[in-house]
Amino acid sequence: MSGAAPSLIDAARAAARHAHAPYSGFAVGAALRLVDGTMVSGSNLENASYGLSLCAEAAALAAANSAGRLRDVREIAVIGGRMENGHLRGTAPVHPCGRCRQMLKEASDLAGHDIVVHCAAPEGGQIAHYPLSTLLPFSFGPADLGRD
Ligand code: THU
Repeated sequence: MSGAAPSLIDAARAAARHAHAPYSGFAVGAALRLVDGTMVSGSNLENASYGLSLCAEAAALAAANSAGRLRDVREIAVIGGRMENGHLRGTAPVHPCGRCRQMLKEASDLAGHDIVVHCAAPEGGQIAHYPLSTLLPFSFGPADLGRD
């Protein structure tokens, strides 16, 4: 599978700088590329009531939805790690959590195509690429509720 243009990873990295993650100390940025090339980003948003925290991917999807573009998502880049003195640290790619995979599945079904997921490490240049369908096989979606 072809790599993400560096700009999508860059946008995710830039979004991670805006993470509000004082509890976990783990900053995550996500950037969506829409079918027309538009990029929409999000960062994780934690809360003192821990369970209310929002993932970066969910924030990006909510932003796309708010712009009326949820059905136009083509790919997503995700990056995350410890934020230390303004630098994102870590050598392992971050993969979307289960809830975010399910949220991406909804966007994928709306779009009528698979979504490419790029998982990047902050340091070392490691990037893994997956079709969403391989990250969430045997998934539950609109079709199970009798919807197209
Ligand atoms: N997080 C994300 O933003 N995306 C993921 O896919 C995994 C986890 C966030 C949630 C929480 O703010 C922090 O990372 C630690 O779990």
